[in-house]
Amino acid sequence: MTADRPFFLTTPIYYVNDLPHLGHAYTMVACDVLARFQRLDGTRVKFLTGTDEHGQKVEKSAQAAGLSPQAFADKISAAFRDSARLLNISHDDFIRTTEPRHVRAVQAMWQELERRGEIYLGRFVGWYSVRDEAFYDERELVGGLAPTGAEVEWVEEENYFFRLSAWQDRLLEFYETNPEAIAPRSRRNEVISFVKGGLNDLSISRTSFAWGIPVPGNPRHVIYVWLDALINYLTSVGYPETKTREFSDFWPASLHMVGKDILRFHTVYWHAFLMAAGIAPPRRVFAHGWWTVEGQKMSKSLGNFIPPHELVATYGLDPLRYFLMRELPFGSDGDFSHRAMIGRLNGDLANDFGNLAQRVLAMIERNCASVLPEPGAFTAADEELLAEARSLLGRVRPSLLDEAFHVALETIWRLVAEANRYVDSEAPWVLRRTDPARMRTVLYVLAETLRHLGILMQPFVPDAAAALLDQLAVPPGARRFADLAEALPPGRPVPPPHGIFPRFVEAVPGAPPAATPGAKPADPGAAART
Ligand code: MSP
Repeated sequence: MTADRPFFLTTPIYYVNDLPHLGHAYTMVACDVLARFQRLDGTRVKFLTGTDEHGQKVEKSAQAAGLSPQAFADKISAAFRDSARLLNISHDDFIRTTEPRHVRAVQAMWQELERRGEIYLGRFVGWYSVRDEAFYDERELVGGLAPTGAEVEWVEEENYFFRLSAWQDRLLEFYETNPEAIAPRSRRNEVISFVKGGLNDLSISRTSFAWGIPVPGNPRHVIYVWLDALINYLTSVGYPETKTREFSDFWPASLHMVGKDILRFHTVYWHAFLMAAGIAPPRRVFAHGWWTVEGQKMSKSLGNFIPPHELVATYGLDPLRYFLMRELPFGSDGDFSHRAMIGRLNGDLANDFGNLAQRVLAMIERNCASVLPEPGAFTAADEELLAEARSLLGRVRPSLLDEAFHVALETIWRLVAEANRYVDSEAPWVLRRTDPARMRTVLYVLAETLRHLGILMQPFVPDAAAALLDQLAVPPGARRFADLAEALPPGRPVPPPHGIFPRFVEAVPGAPPAATPGAKPADPGAAART
């Protein structure tokens, strides 16, 4: 992934048949971390998310809810917008596929494909899964179900087809010459072997229901919801206007982040549609893994759909964001458990990081009259910690450019551990009596290390990082990566410290409620050690 040009980053657009859950939060947070990272790194970013509102699945859900499809879509789309706000997602555009700008883009793309002879009218006879919104071949079914386990129905209807079969060689050539275009590598291999297996022409319209964008010139047909949905990425950059600054700056997209279940749509169909319309395919598509919950697949029938707002209310937003990015190697599947969440919160956040910040800030308050201390000459140990801090960005950047969020956080937390070791071995609470000038140097080195940590943590835990930087009196205008080079100026007054990551105390029946985020210091014992 390259960041030397404007960076256009997208989440999938979410079906409005269901309310937001943990899986949706995952993609949004991952993209948000990247968007914030790139902006702090000085790159121009466009970050898109939104909702996918057409198709049979949404039509059926609306019917079941007793609402018109539009009223239903309005309601659930608003819930996704609220969820993005709650998760502190910094998107620049939120698209809805029922907006006029999108209908226009989809119809324009259809006409372009038709003009280029890529579309023909035929008859579809085969299986369709409403849940997957996908067509399946008889050979693909497993025990009468789609390979995803979804139910299928037999469909025989007049459909328009896209000449997908003609694109096999050009797709393979594209994958070959653009090895970074599909990640992780194992997923790239899956896509290549699927395409090598041969491609059938793809049905791209339906006539048996009405909730969709009408085919230009034949409104008895609505456009297949995946063709409609994928085009959202182009709509956002102004398609069909392609001679604009917006289009040339942001297309081809830098990164489409998707779940592994929708990789084929984003790397086979999408690339073929784009090439067929004479438009360059995206630079990169990354497929992440799926979460189970306490060892089980999330499903309505099991009642284990976790709405993000419940997790935020219980653990706080930044602990949740941290957990999602730290717990799994990005790309792999994994399990969400409350035990693991509490372990990360109390271990990595409250203990390792929160205590470090609390100890340093409390000592500056008490022993340096709430003013950033003036350092004396640095020892080898000071220089070593400062060098680690100064090289942190250079070590974190490659991991993030490779979507290895967990590795980036591991790297940041290695510096947290170094800083904790340094506090313990320098013991500034002893120096307070024996050598106050040395204590001031040690506290300065620690404050400067915390500044680096705070600036680097902003993409992951924006509110907590801002709280830390406020407490170090780092002005809001001096928090970009370029500002890392300017060391903290001694002599600046700092505000009274307060805990950044409170420990999570499990509620036991009959006991008072658990800690609320931001309510109490990270380590009540810290005062005793200052
Ligand atoms: N509407 C399509 C995407 C169209 S993009 C042009 C869609 N929507 S979805 O709402 O069903 O899924 C949105 C995203 O959520 C997908 O990337 C999917 O992989 C992800 N997840 C849904 N459940 C998930 C988990 N349990 N775990 C992780 N991600 C999951 O597909």
